[in-house]
Amino acid sequence: MSTTLIQNGTLVTDRHTFHADILIENGRIRDVAPSIPNTNADRVIDAAHMLVLPGGIDVHTHMDMPFGGTTSADDFETGTRAAAIGGTTTIVDFAIQAKATKMRDALDTWWKKAEGKVCIDYGLHMIVTDLGTSGLEDMDDMVREGVASFKLFMAYPNVLMVDDATIFKALGQTAKNGALICMHAENGSVIDVIVQKALAEGKTAPIYHALTRPTRAEAEAVHRAIALAEMAGAPVYIVHLSSEDALNQVREARDRGLPAFAETCPQYLLLSINDMDKPGFEPAKYVFTPPLREPHNLPKLWDGLRHDHLQVVSTDHCPFCFADQKILGKDDFTKIPNGGPGVENRLQLIHHHGVGTGRLSLNRFVELVSTTPARLFGMYPRKGALEVGSDADIVIWDPNAEHTISAATHHMRVDYSMFEGFHVRGNARQVLSRGEVIVDQGKFLGKAGRGQYLRRAARGGAWK
Ligand code: URP
Ligand code: ZN
Ligand code: ZN
Repeated sequence: MSTTLIQNGTLVTDRHTFHADILIENGRIRDVAPSIPNTNADRVIDAAHMLVLPGGIDVHTHMDMPFGGTTSADDFETGTRAAAIGGTTTIVDFAIQAKATKMRDALDTWWKKAEGKVCIDYGLHMIVTDLGTSGLEDMDDMVREGVASFKLFMAYPNVLMVDDATIFKALGQTAKNGALICMHAENGSVIDVIVQKALAEGKTAPIYHALTRPTRAEAEAVHRAIALAEMAGAPVYIVHLSSEDALNQVREARDRGLPAFAETCPQYLLLSINDMDKPGFEPAKYVFTPPLREPHNLPKLWDGLRHDHLQVVSTDHCPFCFADQKILGKDDFTKIPNGGPGVENRLQLIHHHGVGTGRLSLNRFVELVSTTPARLFGMYPRKGALEVGSDADIVIWDPNAEHTISAATHHMRVDYSMFEGFHVRGNARQVLSRGEVIVDQGKFLGKAGRGQYLRRAARGGAWK
């Protein structure tokens, strides 16, 4: 039996901030108390002047994902190692059902991708591309395997997009099996018309990716997704929400008491379309979907986080190297693989720009990056909590550590950073995953393959 004692730290949960020690036994929290004497712990961590947080949970990552004619640059090893260094101890990634195939085949494929590689615990959502004849039973099958959430796309026609009937049927199935539908909400058909017009006019540069995806196309889809969920009697979770226009739809629905939830990502909080004003093909680094928006959206998203109109900050980590992957769209923005890197920097950025500026309390920070993701996606209180019995996924956070984000020093396997040169105060000093110190002062100490698949529960927080 191995034991670790964390002493002298300030614990921060979604609700409270208090001085306490934590005793860990066999990977789980055994005791939390004002003062726990060291009676023979194998390891003692002195957390004086440190914050002690539940490990970060990023519920939106794409490791080793085939997309846009290539594959995302981080696999489950490089991506989760980088995540851990940044204080994230759990990810929920996406398996993709190939059309006319069983969801179980995709689940097997993604388990194999993770096997022997994944460095932290992980869950999987299933991307539904085709309900076919047995898709609804397939969804139940997935829920039994701990895949308690599904992503559906209202965008990317002919690739991932599904029609409203499919969305409505899937939502109806979750009303029975208790899973949560995650929606990529953009009106893909209308965007496609705008895109084709731009191309016909010779507008092929990366900036046209952003200029052909209006916020109204996002807001319309968010509105429709929520309306479909309301008719089906199911909750819905909007992924990577990027604009005030879309946020207004979520707020309105929540004001009516509907179980509508949404996440945003650091790139939408900290970057704008003005960041694409760069020479040559550089703007391709910021080609992801939805795109960067006009600057006036940013403070509205921060307000949304503060007032619980938005519940989660994830990253949508989907890295493609600039030199040999983004370049695929050199002559046509529609061929630029969509996605950007960020799994390593989420806690640093939200702590610095949220807590450091007074926009968010420390407790709200923890709620957004750890506790609510755990609750909504069926992992709480095993994850996202500092409670007796919870997994000892713990970040010893130095609120005063200074760090400058750069591709030269980051651990993600991608040749640029969207946040190059961003200076942050606050960083993970040590990271524990199930009681094991897997990161110490930026150095990864864990072993690839040590991460475990999480069987997540249906009827999580979205149903309460
Ligand atoms: O551009 C993005 N967001 N790429 C990843 C796929 C998705 O839509 O989440
Ligand atoms: Zn998406
Ligand atoms: Zn995504």
